[in-house]
Amino acid sequence: MSKNIKLNLNYAGIPDNEINAYADQVKRAHKELNKGLNDDTKYTGWIEWPINYDKTEFQKIKKIAQKVRSDSEVLIVIGIGGSYLGARAVIEALTNQFERKETEIIYVGNNLNPNYINEIIEYVSDKDISLNVISKSGKTTEPAIAFRIFRNLMEDKYGVDEARKRIFVTTTKRKGALYKIALQEKYVKLNIPENIGGRYSVLTAVGILPIAVAGLNIDKIMSGAKIAAEEYNNDDLKNNDCYKYAVIRNILYGNEKNIEILASYEPKLFYFAEWWKQLFGESEGKDCKGIFPASVTYTTDLHSLGQYVQDGRRNLFETVLNVQKSDTDIVIDYDNENLDELNYIAGKNLSYVNQKAMEATITAHVDGDVPNIVIDIDSLNENVIGQLIYFFEKACAMSGILLGVDPFNQPGVEKYKNNMYDLLGKNRIGEFM
Ligand code: PA5
Repeated sequence: MSKNIKLNLNYAGIPDNEINAYADQVKRAHKELNKGLNDDTKYTGWIEWPINYDKTEFQKIKKIAQKVRSDSEVLIVIGIGGSYLGARAVIEALTNQFERKETEIIYVGNNLNPNYINEIIEYVSDKDISLNVISKSGKTTEPAIAFRIFRNLMEDKYGVDEARKRIFVTTTKRKGALYKIALQEKYVKLNIPENIGGRYSVLTAVGILPIAVAGLNIDKIMSGAKIAAEEYNNDDLKNNDCYKYAVIRNILYGNEKNIEILASYEPKLFYFAEWWKQLFGESEGKDCKGIFPASVTYTTDLHSLGQYVQDGRRNLFETVLNVQKSDTDIVIDYDNENLDELNYIAGKNLSYVNQKAMEATITAHVDGDVPNIVIDIDSLNENVIGQLIYFFEKACAMSGILLGVDPFNQPGVEKYKNNMYDLLGKNRIGEFM
């Protein structure tokens, strides 16, 4: 069992025998997952990636990160979905959001809103910038438009040659429009392995370059992921928390609990929840099936969505990310006048109060027929986040197979794109008329 991540099922309300009944199914699903390991078309390259990742490319990433940190106040990261959420999740979880950064990371190409882009253009106008454009297909509209805008901006600002030294392209080898641009313009290229899909790609150059530029230790992230890859490569359900989590979700789904809320008491995990929602939403929501993934940050959302969770439709369950050790703390002072009536907690740490709020909420929600799965995480650091990412990727793949869907495709995403292309007048060979 992982030292850092523990599955606590005391509040899930599922008896052991119901979980254990899945043992054979899990063994078969595990075999099916591993069968794809040597097959590039199966998108299971992420399973062994923490063990066999391209170490030479990681050295190159460290050098690029060093350069960007030395010559840029801002790194503009262009990407959408799996091409940016993982990096943002890790960076926001592990850095101080209010501290002035040596190199700040700004995310573009994840929407089509002109105000958003114009505000960024204005913000970076007097700053030195570098740019990392990330797209596996190399043809997604949102990042493609943002890249056209910011590439022009950088060429105007620095001239073509210097801009070239500040633009880094992360895409699949030998395929797609972005690859062609990178080749023609001689931009430095980083690779997205063909057999790793977007939402499973945070531990490749996709996430690792921005994370390194944010000053985080990418070796520790990868060694954490490796611990998890070894630990959860075990088809024995009784000894695999990751598969147990997948099974319990499946049982709850069968009990009409078709909305899962990822809850945490750590606001720094907001984007981690965004990444998690994309991972599970795109992997499982298909063929008219799947748990709808939602998220809350408590105690903030106890004063908004908390009412619904406690008292609304009973089709919910929660997965609570419980970070046990806070990096810093604040002691609540004693006050002679006690006008705010808080002396009953004087001398207590704020993390203790937060913990009690969590315990109180779990009991209240479980009493209200909202089963809670608790994932205890001892602390937040690079190693643990590497483990956590892998834990959820593997659980998601297992969960999708148990549900009977392909967890690695996203056919539904094409529907809006084709409608949009029709409305915008894109012709068949990919040019705008
Ligand atoms: O998980 C996925 O595959 C998607 O969310 C993609 O990451 C997203 O659509 C972006 O695609 P691309 O990297 O090809 O621009």
